[in-house]
Amino acid sequence: MSKRTAFIMGASQGIGKAIALKLADQHFSLVINSRNLDNIEPVKKDILAKHPEASVIVLAGDMSDQHTRAGIFHEIESQCGRLDVLINNIPGGAPDTFDNCNIEDMTATFTQKTVAYIDAIKRAASLMKQNEFGRIINIVGNLWKEPGANMFTNSMMNAALINASKNISIQLAPHNITVNCLNPGFIATDRYHQFVENVMKKNSLSKQEAEEQIASGIPMKRVGSAEETAALAAFLASEEASYITGQQISADGGSMKSI
Ligand SMILES: NC(=O)c1ccc[n+]([C@@H]2O[C@H](COP(=O)([O-])OP(=O)(O)OC[C@H]3O[C@@H](n4cnc5c(N)ncnc54)[C@H](OP(=O)(O)O)[C@@H]3O)[C@@H](O)[C@H]2O)c1
Repeated sequence: MSKRTAFIMGASQGIGKAIALKLADQHFSLVINSRNLDNIEPVKKDILAKHPEASVIVLAGDMSDQHTRAGIFHEIESQCGRLDVLINNIPGGAPDTFDNCNIEDMTATFTQKTVAYIDAIKRAASLMKQNEFGRIINIVGNLWKEPGANMFTNSMMNAALINASKNISIQLAPHNITVNCLNPGFIATDRYHQFVENVMKKNSLSKQEAEEQIASGIPMKRVGSAEETAALAAFLASEEASYITGQQISADGGSMKSI
């Protein structure tokens, strides 16, 4: 059997980068993406420094743009001839509230993440069906179930993604393609550090006070690491996760309180 090939979008930093490094450890052939070539090229260097024999293709481009997506999946097909794992991993829109949300921004967020993920699944599935094998992992977030007052549109869009993933998982199950959602809690990436800054400004707190306030609301009393999130993604991408589909699972230190 040829080596399994994984496509990881948003892999230049944070959770996406950690997933790329973890899958490289597990000897996947990799296609890695982010919008900016200067950001993503160093990740290829990091992987090759650790695994000189690894196959790593960089395809830079904005995955929220439908023409870019079409071009990138065309390149995956022509350069790799197969796709086994899709990691859908791009950020949503800016924070907003019910009071200040507007139609333009809501539509943009819907296109940027929700539509992008679903279209990427469509394109990936047509390649995966050729080998009757696939693992699709959507990086979403706990907001789908516990909406945030300051994350009105992102919460709504996350819920739409969870719903769509369940639906798609049922369509793709006969092809041995699994579709699952991984929901990070507070994970120490750039995105989290921006959140800390917002808490500092809003509550006139020092960085340490803001971080302590955030950690105090997490049952494990600490934020998670991108590597802890990547470990779960790697399991969902593995052969062993063969009977798990249509699920949503959090890596969040117990942050999600609802059952
Ligand atoms: N960190 C958390 O606490 C947390 C919590 C809940 C959910 N999440 C979700 O987890 C995912 C990853 O978050 P993160 O914290 O790792 O984010 P991050 O550190 O901000 O990294 C985002 C990555 O995506 C790339 N990117 C951004 N827009 C892109 C686009 N349109 N097309 C292709 N690449 C794009 C960025 O690189 P370039 O700038 O080079 O494009 C970067 O590599 C997101 O879906 C986020 O909503 C994170």
